[in-house]
Amino acid sequence: MRKAIQIKENVYWVGVQDFNLRHFHGSLFPIEEGSTYNAYLIVDEEITLIDTVEEEFVDIMFERIESVIGDKAIDHLVVQHAEPDHSGGFVRFMEKYPNCSPYASSIGINNMLQQYFGEYEFTTVATDETLNTGKYTMKFLEMPMIHWPDNMLTYLVEEKIAFSNDAFGQHIASYNLYDCDHGKDFCLAQAKEYYANILVPYNMLINAKINIIKTMDIDMICPAHGIIWKTYVKEIIDLYERHSLAQNEHKATIVYESVWSHTQQIAEALAEGLAQAGVDVKIYKKSETNIAVIMREILDSKAVFIGSGCYNSFMSMEIAGMLDKLKSCNIKDKKGLGFGAYGWYMNTAKTIEEKLAEAGLEIIDDGGISKNFTPSKEAINEIIETAYKIGIEL
Ligand code: FEO
Repeated sequence: MRKAIQIKENVYWVGVQDFNLRHFHGSLFPIEEGSTYNAYLIVDEEITLIDTVEEEFVDIMFERIESVIGDKAIDHLVVQHAEPDHSGGFVRFMEKYPNCSPYASSIGINNMLQQYFGEYEFTTVATDETLNTGKYTMKFLEMPMIHWPDNMLTYLVEEKIAFSNDAFGQHIASYNLYDCDHGKDFCLAQAKEYYANILVPYNMLINAKINIIKTMDIDMICPAHGIIWKTYVKEIIDLYERHSLAQNEHKATIVYESVWSHTQQIAEALAEGLAQAGVDVKIYKKSETNIAVIMREILDSKAVFIGSGCYNSFMSMEIAGMLDKLKSCNIKDKKGLGFGAYGWYMNTAKTIEEKLAEAGLEIIDDGGISKNFTPSKEAINEIIETAYKIGIEL
């Protein structure tokens, strides 16, 4: 029998690992080593489940629940988020526990009813409202757009646990549930990647919630994906604060696509000049790199350099998609520059810069850097010098 894992005296992890997950939310966020859907059981005079799991894993969740409470009923289900990775098991759960009362935010209830139809007697909960289950009190905090309109956080007052749903998540799939089992750097890097790929468009809303969360007395943050934060609670809250304020490092990220290495030579000359100026440089060929990694590095870069060769009088499909992605992420407080080598159509760098400007970046050099066919040695040296000057002023 699969078992729950106790995380505090009356609190249990009853979630599942999805070791084969490689794409989180469709193609939005490729991941390498799976993730988890975390659900938590709170055993009091009345029993509460926080979230369910993806539908295909719901029987595993049931086994873990039964390992703690046998065939006892569950009184309350807090639906912190209607997206199917957390609520996909909802209908099966309600069939098994028909007398359970479900709770959600008002938008969450609307989303749940639209998604799962059926006649469920939801109770709406709003920020600062509470649910008492005997000796425990749960206090709710609505977290709109972190990362859907209906997300919610539930604070178990007496145990100082924040069940944060998608916020503070990361994709670490393991039976070792705690941050200290995996090391601070690894956990924070995973959390940063998650922030960059899921949360970055909503910085302002996140910052407002972080200001509230900072005032709470928290022993443990239990997100809906990945490990539980108990040793590095302050560090993960600080990370969210830093990124929600769009605080950049002295860093530049260069992303390019190149067929015959001409655009690559420009990219590498830019990297050389920036590095000579003391800038931390990241450089990626788009088609060879996981987009999640690129977004992670752009997150705290002061400048983003995007380059492409010319493909039928346009930039490469990879770079076009990259620029659309940047636009969708509501990027702020970054500088941008377009570049590329061309054969007979010289407007690619300019078009890249138009798209960078549309995405909200401040353009460094109007028109960008364009070179015909193979850049000469002199041209490469000129690009190194240009990049050096940009780096000094960054
Ligand atoms: Fe973990 Fe918004 O889904």
